[in-house]
Order: sequence, then structure tokens, then C-alpha cells
Amino acid sequence: MCGIVGGVTNSNITPLLLEGLNRLEYRGYDSSGLIVLSEKNTFNRARSVGKVKNLEKNLNERSNKIKGNIGIAHTRWATHGKPSNLNAHPHISKNSVSVVHNGIIENYVALKNDQKKLGYEFKSETDTEVIAHAIDYAIKSSKTLIESVQKVVKSLEGSYGLGIMSSKFPDQIIATRKGSPLVLGVSSNGNYIASDQMALLSETKKFIFLEEGDVAEIKLDKITIFDLDGNLVDRPVIKSMIKAGQVDKGIYDHFMQKEIFEQPQAIRDTLESRITNDSVITSSFGYKADEIFKNIKQIQIVACGTSYNAGIVAKYWIEDIAKIPCNTEIASEYRYRRPILLDDTLFVTLSQSGETADTIEALKAAQKINNSIKSLCISNTPESSLTRLSDLTFLTHAGPEIGVASTKAFTTQLVSLALMLCSIGKLRNKIDRTQEKEIVDGLKKLPGLINETLHQENQIKILANSFLDKNSTLFLGRGTMHAIAMEGALKLKEISYIHAEAYPAGELKHGPLALIDKNMPVIAIAPNDELLEKLKSNLQEVKSRGSKMIVFEDENSKVQSMDSMQVIPVTSNLGRITAPIIFTIPLQLLSYHVALLKNTDIDKPRNLAKSVTVE
Ligand code: G6P
Repeated sequence: MCGIVGGVTNSNITPLLLEGLNRLEYRGYDSSGLIVLSEKNTFNRARSVGKVKNLEKNLNERSNKIKGNIGIAHTRWATHGKPSNLNAHPHISKNSVSVVHNGIIENYVALKNDQKKLGYEFKSETDTEVIAHAIDYAIKSSKTLIESVQKVVKSLEGSYGLGIMSSKFPDQIIATRKGSPLVLGVSSNGNYIASDQMALLSETKKFIFLEEGDVAEIKLDKITIFDLDGNLVDRPVIKSMIKAGQVDKGIYDHFMQKEIFEQPQAIRDTLESRITNDSVITSSFGYKADEIFKNIKQIQIVACGTSYNAGIVAKYWIEDIAKIPCNTEIASEYRYRRPILLDDTLFVTLSQSGETADTIEALKAAQKINNSIKSLCISNTPESSLTRLSDLTFLTHAGPEIGVASTKAFTTQLVSLALMLCSIGKLRNKIDRTQEKEIVDGLKKLPGLINETLHQENQIKILANSFLDKNSTLFLGRGTMHAIAMEGALKLKEISYIHAEAYPAGELKHGPLALIDKNMPVIAIAPNDELLEKLKSNLQEVKSRGSKMIVFEDENSKVQSMDSMQVIPVTSNLGRITAPIIFTIPLQLLSYHVALLKNTDIDKPRNLAKSVTVE
């Protein structure tokens, strides 16, 4: 996804811009560019497709070096218009204004039509170029650059983080944000902007976090900020605790624990710039997504391990909500079984690492079986093998996941899959605007809901004690909660080495009931959905066979507690999409605390690897 870095300094800014772009590479991008105001107050710009090293090469090969004290730079992830030099940022209007932009301008077509009538020429296919032209036009009736930007942002619909320079105001850059993050960096050498503090960590640790709608004027020795309503405001300077280039456990004992607690932020990052107030931005799956999604007739999901469990949840969602046939399969099976792949299939690979050998081979096999299929990879790793092999890529933006047992990658995959099904459903007229808004509202609530669930850690710690002498556990759920039960069982066996199995609760009587006795705890997930009454009967079946039970329920499910049964309300009134994500959290915490009590190697469980790059 796009990245921004820029600043006003007392020396040549080009090396800092390049360093910042390199630090933003982890977010994924397909082109990059920078622009600097030269001593003669003219723009000097370079743009390249591909890696930042291509831009560096481009700069090194120039006879007239790009130098100056003021500049802005960008890594672009194509949404409107393919990856190309012309579409790469920064964009320029009439040698007077230059802009870098993260986000999407939804009303750019209308703005573009108006600007064409005023004689503006468009060099790119992007939604961003209209911002540069609009500011150039507004400057004519403004005393300052910031005044012109304040006028222009009023006409923009959508989301933006913007860095703006003008050759008419050569001592400053303007930064503003709405729906996309932007921070200001403060140092004795100058003042800076970036979409992410990581970009500036080599220069400063002092940051000002712009609030929604803020517009800031950045000069060498002064930063002035106005809020959404045009009032002068004072935003605090905060010292960052992040260490450049270092991934550490911080206040946590294990990476897995840290990653469980990072989920609210990871989900915020997954959603950032992918949704508006009430809709999903389809082009966040890539600029070709609209066309591809419109024409597909079925979906095949392939993955391994935890990613496979996310795919099973998605199968329920996709058929139920987007009304399109969907199948989910384990990659190591799919790759060898000579499956039938119909035309107009969207082949979706899910992979945290993007490097799992079986998933890669399953995609290659599918492309061989039917070379007309389109592929989408949902991954946490930019530039991974799967992303390179796929037509479309969606990065989960969960941040580095170090613990072998996957946690935040799973929940962010679910969020990504929800965005995918929403995009596909609306293009196929199966999801209307009201439903879309409901889904988007639900996703926006997730970080807060997860935080509430994480507060139950102490209660779950106590529960964990009862697993110490157990050799086996059964997890039960129905519908999407069967897949969440599978994920709960996988977590428990991976890190606590207790055998665990998940069953769809309706299948109990076809086998697992025979196993049930007081030594086999049963964990059930009871959301308040249309299968609740059936699940309650299944719980009775188990209870009457003497098992110790733990039921994680929706408050409104009102599962009646019985002897040796603990009912734990996790949340209340959740929708089809939010519920499976929330019920995952107590299961992650339970496995973690059982493993902690058993003193296993939580982050690196025996015999397992984070990324299985061999068959
Ligand atoms: C390994 C890891 C799991 C992961 C699976 C798939 O088994 O230990 O945590 O879910 O690989 O990995 P992927 O990177 O493709 O999601």
C-alpha cells in the first residue's frame, strides 16, 4: 500500500527521501518516485516502476543530480491506473504544484471533468492528479499555500494523506489527512512528514500525530497546524518508543502474546484506506480487481494450516452473503488431485508468508489446469512468491508475525476476506448499499470489541489450569464456528502439545461421543445465531456423558450452566462477520496460557516452522 515521506531540511533531502522509501517498502508497492525543489525553485522529479532500488539507479544515472532542501516522495500501490512511470507519484500541475497522495478520491471523475473545461491537461490515469490541479487553481485566489489546500480539501470525497509542495511557496510543504494516517517528524535538522513513523526513524524519534482533517504547514523551523474547522491547534510532540529495524517483544513475554494483543491495531491497519465511511474500496485489491471480480462465477480458496481455517470461514460467508459458489481446500491435497477448474474461477491463495511451498504449487497447478482463471493472493508479505504469481494481491498489513502459531495473521486474513466478499457481492448485485454499510460498520467496531475480549485474559488464565492433566480436548462449533473450533484446536495442539480435535457439533453422534468422559474436556462456541438451539441440544448430549465443558457464548445465547460446565460470555449481539473473529480471541488466549503453564517453547514449538517452504 502507498507510502509517503517528505520534509524541509537544512541540507540536501534526497538521501533522506530514499531512506524513507526503503523503510516503507514492507507495506508493498509497485512503483516509487520523488520530487525536490531545486535552488532555482523548479521541480526536479524522478519516478520508476518496481523496487526503490530502480529509483536509486535512475537517480544515479542522471547527469543533473536531484538536489534541494525541500522534497516529497512516494511508494505507490496501483489502484486507479496500472503501475507505470506516468501513474507513479509525485504528480505535478503546471510546474506550480506537486502532490503525493495515499488513499482514494471517490469524486475524481467529476473534478476531472470540471478541470478539463478549465484547460487542465491530465498526464496520468490516477485519481490523485485532480488534487494537484485543484490546488494550482486555488492558489490563484489564495494568499498562502495552506489557504489553497484548506479550500481544496473541502471539495474532496474519499480518503487522503497528502504531501504538497509549490514552486510559488518554496520554503514549505503542506500535509493533511483524512482517513489515511500522516505523522510529522521534528528534528534539529528540519521538519518532516510520513505516512508511518518507520520512514523517519533514522532522522528523528519525535513525532506529531495529525488528527482527522488537520492541515499542517511545515517549514524549516516551524510547524503550524489547523484543525478541520480551520482553528489553529497545538498537537503534542510524542517521543516514539519504536526502535528502527528491530522487532522485539516489548512488554510481553512471548511474540505470540504480543501478536495476540496487537490484533486491534493490526485490524485497523488492514482496514486503513480500504474502506470509506460506508463502503469497501474494491480497487484496494488492485487496479484490475473491478473487472476481474465482475466476471467471476465461482471461487476456489487454497491454503495450509491456520490460513486454511480462515478459508473455511470465508466459504460460509461467501456463499451465504455474496451468493457465489465457493470451495476451500488444503493446498497439499489440491496440488496433486487433478481437480476440475471451471472458466471464470477466482483462485484465492491465503498465506501469511506468501512462501508456503504447497500453496505455491497448488496455484501453479491451477494455472496449468486452466490458464484462463484469475488469481488473488491474500498475504502478509509483500513481494513474496505467491504475490508475484497472482493477478491480484491484497496485503493484510498485520506487521511482522514471529510466533510460529499464527494469530494476528489469521484475524487480519478474515478481515481481508470480508472486504473481498463485500467487493464481489456488490459487483454482482448481491449486496446492497445498506448491507455493505452494515458490514463496514461491523469491521470498524472490531478493534474495540477485540480489546474488550482481551480483558478476559485473567479469567482464561484460571481456566488454563484445568488442562494441565489432560491429554485430549474436543472443540465444537457449527457453521463458521466449526472453522473457529478448528483454529482453536490447532492452536492448542501446536503450542501446548495436547491432542485436540474440532468437530461440527452436529456430527458428534457419528463418532466422537464415544470418546467423551471426564478426562476429555469439551470446548464449545455458542454465538447467538440460527443454529443456537441445535447447538444447545448437542451440548446436552455431551454433558450427559460426564465431560467437563467450557462454553464461550454470546451473552444473548443464554446457555444454561450445568454441573462441571463453565459458561463464559465473550460478547453480545455480533453479526455473521464479526462473531467468528471475536470468538477466536479467547481460544488464542487459552492455548497461550495452557502452553505457558506447561512451559513449552511457545514461539518456536517443537518440530514446527513458521513458513514451510519445502514439501
Ligand atoms: C506453518 C505455520 C502455520 C501457518 C502455515 C501456513 O504450518 O506454522 O502457522 O498457518 O504454515 O503458512 P502461511 O504462511 O502459508 O499462512
